[in-house]
Amino acid sequence: MDNNIMEKITSLCKRRGFIYPNSEIYGGLSNSWDFGPLGVELKNNIKLLWWKKFVRSRNDIVGMDAAIISNPKVWEASGHIANFTDPLVECKICHQRFREDFKDQIKNHESIHKGIKIVWTEAKKFNLMFKTFIGPAEDKADTVYLRPETAQSIFINFKNVLSSTRVKLPFGIAQIGKAFRNEITPGNFIFRTREFEQMEIEYFIPVPKNEIEWQKHFTYWQEQIHDWMENNLGLNSEKIYDNDIPDADRSHYSKKTIDFEYDFPFGRKELFGLAYRADYDLKNHEKKSGKNMKYRDMESGEEFWPHVIEPSMGLDRSILAVLIDSYKENNNRIVMSFKSSLAPYKAAVFPLLSNKPELINKAKSLYDILRQSFMVAWDDRGNIGKRYASQDEAGTPYCITIDFQTLEDNTVTIRERDSMNQRRVDFNEVDSIIYNSLK
Ligand code: GAP
Repeated sequence: MDNNIMEKITSLCKRRGFIYPNSEIYGGLSNSWDFGPLGVELKNNIKLLWWKKFVRSRNDIVGMDAAIISNPKVWEASGHIANFTDPLVECKICHQRFREDFKDQIKNHESIHKGIKIVWTEAKKFNLMFKTFIGPAEDKADTVYLRPETAQSIFINFKNVLSSTRVKLPFGIAQIGKAFRNEITPGNFIFRTREFEQMEIEYFIPVPKNEIEWQKHFTYWQEQIHDWMENNLGLNSEKIYDNDIPDADRSHYSKKTIDFEYDFPFGRKELFGLAYRADYDLKNHEKKSGKNMKYRDMESGEEFWPHVIEPSMGLDRSILAVLIDSYKENNNRIVMSFKSSLAPYKAAVFPLLSNKPELINKAKSLYDILRQSFMVAWDDRGNIGKRYASQDEAGTPYCITIDFQTLEDNTVTIRERDSMNQRRVDFNEVDSIIYNSLK
């Protein structure tokens, strides 16, 4: 892939209103990004699709949306205060800090101080949670944390969900929401940021009697994540790898983890994760809170902490992978080949000429019909070729032109983004063509 691909995508994202650098008028804030008019549509489409697939269309998963700031005891119980750390080393020459395990960045830094032997400090543990204070006094006693994962708010609400719904094991609780990490070395556009969104499911299962019993759920979720990446996000399956994480490298809570890695232009990196958290979280919340966090089996009367399989999918990384996978450049033609279901605009409507009221009125009537069901763009500027090019960059699957023939026989030209094929269809057919492309 082209070495400049990340620059090209970053520039397209800004130019077309997908993603802007945050607080740019003040010189920006490194690794903080804002989603613009097209970006927010892409983001919302991904969230909605995820919610439809994993919550709305299933009987065994319910959703929730919790607060970002919780009682700090949550993070004591979850182990994040003690264990959610990265090993940090500091260059004694320029005092820049790096993650000790990011060997390529350390090597790169050594080449910056050409010829000088760098002395590094001993690795120190650095907690990734952002701290803030409740109330006016910045007192240690009032310290709270911005959640570093959405998962814990699911665990602390486990009993609430049990008592307010009719879920029975196995079942899941899903959540989409912001998470915050004071990453030492963020970067690569929206790949690693300090503020991001996660789409997580905690899937609770009965206490497994043996490895086969939890492994079957684990494998099921491994397949579901592949289905999501390949069939919903439309990512190229040849760029996706399952990496079974060795014991020493797993998070403190996990008995098995698979990282789903994607071939980003800057290397093969983690896109999503799947972990077997066993009963780690519910058990620790019971210990810390003194409240019963067990599930009660109605038939046997038995009480136990269910085990948990956790599919965890980053929303921002989903967006980045979709942008990279969709970016096509050929003879100066740039196309974002999003799946229709993800495309910010599903169609664009063009009157052939902007100075003919009869064409404008007819085009406006189609635009108004389509807008009732879909996000649709309107463009009456410049020649049709330029309008196509503009919609190709925005990833709009269909462009519909209203011309003089439309006024005679009620047909329009529909032009398909990827094939560039054009055909004439009836004015009244357009709605169903777009609808069918979303399936
Ligand atoms: N609850 C489990 C958990 O949080 P994780 O592997 O630390 O596991 C899950 O994070 C997912 O969240 C990652 O696979 C990635 O998609 C996303 N993610 C994590 N840190 C991120 C960051 N700094 N910027 C963007 N996305 C991030």
